[in-house]
Amino acid sequence: MSQKKIFLALVAISTVSLLLHHGGHFSWTMEAFRLGCSSLSTHPSSLKPKHTNVVFLKTHKTASTTMQNLLFRFAERNNLTVALPVQACGHQFCYPRSFSTHLVHPHTVPPNMITNHMRFNRAEMQRLMPNDTIYVTILREPGSMFESLFSYYNQYCQSFKRVPNGSLEAFLDEPWRYYRPDENDSMYARNTLTFDLGGDKDRSEVELVAYSRAFVAETERVFSLVMIAEYFDESLVLLRHLLSWDLEDMLYVKLNMRMSGSKHSLSPGLPAKIRAWNALDARLYDHFNDSLWRQLDTLGLACVAREVRLLRRAQERLVRGCFGGRLPQLRSAAQIKNKELRPWQPSSKVDIVGYDLPTANNATRPGTLAHELCLKLIMPEVQYTKVLLRSQSLRYRRNFPLRSPQSQQLVPNKRLVLPHHQHLHDEAPPLEPGPASGPTATPRPAGTRIRATRLGLRSSGPQRQTQ
Ligand SMILES: *[C@@H]1O[C@H](CO)[C@@H](O)[C@H](O)[C@H]1NC(C)=O
Ligand SMILES: *[C@@H]1O[C@H](CO)[C@@H](O)[C@H](O)[C@H]1NC(C)=O
Ligand SMILES: *[C@@H]1O[C@H](CO)[C@@H](O)[C@H](O)[C@H]1NC(C)=O
Ligand SMILES: *[C@@H]1O[C@H](CO)[C@@H](O)[C@H](O)[C@H]1NC(C)=O
Ligand SMILES: *[C@@H]1O[C@H](CO)[C@@H](O)[C@H](O)[C@H]1NC(C)=O
Ligand SMILES: *[C@@H]1O[C@H](CO)[C@@H](O)[C@H](O)[C@H]1NC(C)=O
Repeated sequence: MSQKKIFLALVAISTVSLLLHHGGHFSWTMEAFRLGCSSLSTHPSSLKPKHTNVVFLKTHKTASTTMQNLLFRFAERNNLTVALPVQACGHQFCYPRSFSTHLVHPHTVPPNMITNHMRFNRAEMQRLMPNDTIYVTILREPGSMFESLFSYYNQYCQSFKRVPNGSLEAFLDEPWRYYRPDENDSMYARNTLTFDLGGDKDRSEVELVAYSRAFVAETERVFSLVMIAEYFDESLVLLRHLLSWDLEDMLYVKLNMRMSGSKHSLSPGLPAKIRAWNALDARLYDHFNDSLWRQLDTLGLACVAREVRLLRRAQERLVRGCFGGRLPQLRSAAQIKNKELRPWQPSSKVDIVGYDLPTANNATRPGTLAHELCLKLIMPEVQYTKVLLRSQSLRYRRNFPLRSPQSQQLVPNKRLVLPHHQHLHDEAPPLEPGPASGPTATPRPAGTRIRATRLGLRSSGPQRQTQ
C-alpha cells in the first residue's frame, strides 16, 4: 500500500473522530460510571474485542435498511468483507428464492457479514459464515407493518393489485378472494416476516399453533437477538452489548421512508383483522417483543434509557458535523439531484423520500473524506451495495492479481469449503467514491420503519415521517 493511501486512511480515522467526539467519549464514560451502569462502560480500550462476524437478516418494511446502512459503514471502517449477491440477483440474494451460497458473489467471500435481502436458509448460511457468527434480525408490529406492505407493494404484488380501489379494508374483509398463495410475489401479502425467516407462510388453522410454537423456538435457537422496530434504539443498545461495539458504531440516519401522503392510519378493527390474517407473524412478534423487554430489564431499564439518550446526543453531533445543524431536507426521489442518493420507488403512487446533500458546508465539501462519510450515512441500499461490491472486487483483484477472469469464476465454491477466519484482505482501499449510477432496472424495494422526530426531521420540511 502506498504512503499516500496510509496517509488518507489516517486522515479518515481522525476525521471521523473529529466529527463524532468533541470530547463526547469522555463524558459518555463518566456518565455511565456515575449511574453505576457497569454494563455501559464498554469502551475502545476495554475488555472484549468487537465482534465482527454478523448475519443480519433483513426483513421487509422493518427499519432494516437503516440497520443495513449501519453495518455497511462498520464493515468499511474495519476492512471487513460483506457477502454480496451475484450480479444476476440484483441487490438481493434472488429473493424470494431460498438463500444459497451459489448466490454469493465470488469476490465477497469468505465474509464477515451478510445483510442484503434474502429468504433465510439456516443450513446454507452456516456453510457460508464462520462458526462464531452472531445472528440478528428485526421484526415490526404486524398492524403497521401490513399497512406499510400494502401501500408499498400496491402496484407490484398481484394479490394487492386485484383489490378494488386499492382498499386495505376490502382486502381484509375477504383476503382469500384476492390472495393466491402460489404466486411468486404472494409473500408480500401474508406472514412476510415468517417467510423472510425461512418459514412457511400458509398454514391451516389446525396446524397453526403447533407450527408457530416450533418456528418461534427454531428462530430463538438461531438468532441471538431479534430487534423490534418499535423500540429501535433500545434494540441497538442490546445489539451494541451483544457485539461489544462502541456507541459511535451505532449511529444512523433513518432511510427508505414514505412521504406522509402515502401513509394511512388504521381504522378501528383493522389491526385485529391484520393479526388474524398474519397470525404466524403476530405470534412471532409477540414472543420476541416480550423477550426484548426481558433482555432490557436484565440490563437495567434506567441504564438502557441513559444509553439511548447518549446515542441520540451523539447522533445529533454527527448530523451537525455532517450537515451543519440538521439533516438535509427530505425530498421525494424525483427531486434528488445526486443519483447516488436517490431511493428506489415501488410505484408512482408511493413516494419514498431520501436526502440530498446540502451544497455549501465546510464539513462536507465534495472530495473530502468527511463528505464521503456523510454521503454513506444517507446512501440508499441499492447504490451502497454497488459501491461495496466495487471496492471489494478491487481488493480481491489486488490480493489475487494472477487469477484470470476464468478462474475467478471458479473460486466461490472452493473458497466456501475453506475455514473462514483468515483475513485475505489486510490491504483495503480507503472509502471509494461510488459509481455514478442510479438504481438498477428491477430492484426490489426494502423496508424500514420510520419513527422519531428526534433528529429534527419533522421540522425540516412539510413531510411527515411514516410509521
Ligand atoms: C484497514 O486497512 C487500512 C489499510 O490497510 C489500515 O490502514 C487500517 O488500519 C485498517 N483498519 C482496521 C480497523 O483494521
Ligand atoms: C469452528 O470451526 C473451526 C474450524 O473449522 C473449529 O476448529 C472450531 O472448533 C469451531 N468452533 C466452534 C465453536 O464450533
Ligand atoms: C370503489 O370506489 C367506488 C367509487 O368511489 C365505489 O362506488 C365502490 O363501492 C368502491 N368499491 C369498493 C369495493 O370499495
Ligand atoms: C412472477 O411471475 C410473473 C408472471 O407470472 C413475472 O412477470 C414476474 O417477473 C415474476 N416475478 C418474479 C420475481 O419472479
Ligand atoms: C411490547 O412489549 C412491551 C412489554 O411487554 C409492551 O408494553 C408493549 O406494549 C409491546 N409493544 C407492542 C407494540 O406490542
Ligand atoms: C467555511 O470556512 C471558511 C474559512 O475556511 C470560514 O470563513 C467560513 O465561515 C466557514 N463556513 C462555515 C459554514 O462554516
